Amino acid sequence: MITVERLSFAYPDGTQALRNISLSIRNGESAGIIGANGAGKSTLVNHLNGWLRPQSGTVKVEGSRSTGKNQENLRRMVGLVFQNPDDQLFMTRLFDDIMFGPGNLGLPRQESEAEAERLLRDFGLWELRGKPPSKLSQGQKRFAAFAAVLVMRPCVLVMDEPTSDLDPRNRKKLASLVNSLASTRITVSHDLDFIWDTCSRVFIMNSGRISAQGEARALLSNRELLEENALELPLRLQR
Ligand SMILES: Nc1ncnc2c1ncn2[C@@H]1O[C@H](COP(=O)(O)OP(=O)(O)O)[C@@H](O)[C@H]1O
Ligand SMILES: [Mg+2]
Repeated sequence: MITVERLSFAYPDGTQALRNISLSIRNGESAGIIGANGAGKSTLVNHLNGWLRPQSGTVKVEGSRSTGKNQENLRRMVGLVFQNPDDQLFMTRLFDDIMFGPGNLGLPRQESEAEAERLLRDFGLWELRGKPPSKLSQGQKRFAAFAAVLVMRPCVLVMDEPTSDLDPRNRKKLASLVNSLASTRITVSHDLDFIWDTCSRVFIMNSGRISAQGEARALLSNRELLEENALELPLRLQR
């Protein structure tokens, strides 16, 4: 479903962010990507929807390869919820923000509006649809950013640090949302408890490489492995 082969990437200033990454993620799987700050997690997932293009190696989603010509196709398939909701929401009315993606992709308007309404009601945001997104609380912005992506019905959902600004109740709400989706899900997070609750497989990144991969709870309870990668046990296992 998603295959990354020998992917390397350096930023224009010379920072080598990815070094020969290979991984595959199956259809419908929920995978976590963890690793210390600067490990390359965001750089990796920003390749999955064509936001960044491979400098060497390949990225394929459902057999469709990330190349210059194929970016729109990838954007249709892969929905990316950015680390910062302010990067996702920029219109003056919340509802227009939710409808921006479907309009851009040329999806049928009526169906998309109905889906937008369903998502906003689900997330308790319907009454706020006329408000500027900049006036929402951090938690509301986070769910609005999810709605803006889910309304495009991506077959792969990629989330970069989705819980960074959520209180415990909203974290729980987001975990059950993520667990209720049938699409392939990829979550980048420092929040190893959230990964524990939502992922079946985990990849650990360290200095631009995948340093370990395996069954989520086996990796997440391996203190030595986590410490080698500058990570700590999930809070629920610390006592
Ligand atoms: N736009 C950029 N220009 C130069 N270096 C960058 C840029 N974005 C990230 N980096 C560097 O690339 C490396 C990987 O960053 P990133 O993928 O953001 O890591 P993570 O998401 O795991 O914290 C880091 O060394 C970071 O400083
Ligand atoms: Mg990041």
